[in-house]
Amino acid sequence: MLRVVVLVSGGGTNLQAIIDAVAAGSVTNVELVGVLSNNKTVKSLERARKAGIPAVSVSPKDFADREDFHRALLAAVDGFRPDLIVLAGFLVAVPRQMLQRYEGRIINIHPSLIPSFCGVGYYGLRVHERALERGVKVTGATVHFVTEGMDEGPIIAQKAVYVEEGDTPEILQRRVMEQAEWVLLPRAIDDIANGRIRMEAGKCVSTRQVEAR
Ligand code: GRF
Repeated sequence: MLRVVVLVSGGGTNLQAIIDAVAAGSVTNVELVGVLSNNKTVKSLERARKAGIPAVSVSPKDFADREDFHRALLAAVDGFRPDLIVLAGFLVAVPRQMLQRYEGRIINIHPSLIPSFCGVGYYGLRVHERALERGVKVTGATVHFVTEGMDEGPIIAQKAVYVEEGDTPEILQRRVMEQAEWVLLPRAIDDIANGRIRMEAGKCVSTRQVEAR
């Protein structure tokens, strides 16, 4: 069983998709051992507790400086003894020490087709605002391994979603979540847990085309 920790900052709909997929058996060989939020009040912690998953918050507000916060964050993650760390709407830049310790074992979901609309400043609703401003006709989501450059790690899977006439950032965000994020992220976890995907020498190695499913 792959021990999976999910890191969140917000509402946790992606977390919920993972919880539901594990419960339904569409994600196998996975034990959700913990949920960590950098925010004390988020709904995600409630979702985790409801599913019987240990949930903790480690907020930067409780620490004198970034270094102390990073140390506490890493200690909390280590405490779960994870095999895989899933960033599901986690808005904190992953500390270098964590990247080194868990190299090839951290994945992230991003709500665009990387390399479009990603990198510094592209998070949450902003991604969809920029996509609409640019007038793209197709957007989507990407799951990738996390490396030092923001949103630059090897791509695991992507799914395209059409932009429609009259879309607002909120409407588009919801469609990208429903059609792409909630599908891709659980599937990527299942692929890793069942040995179909891994990161090797800075590349995503798969035994088949997961995107084609
Ligand atoms: C998602 O759009 C995710 O791609 C992005 O942040 C959002 C988190 O939503 N990184 P939720 O907390 O999973 O509902």
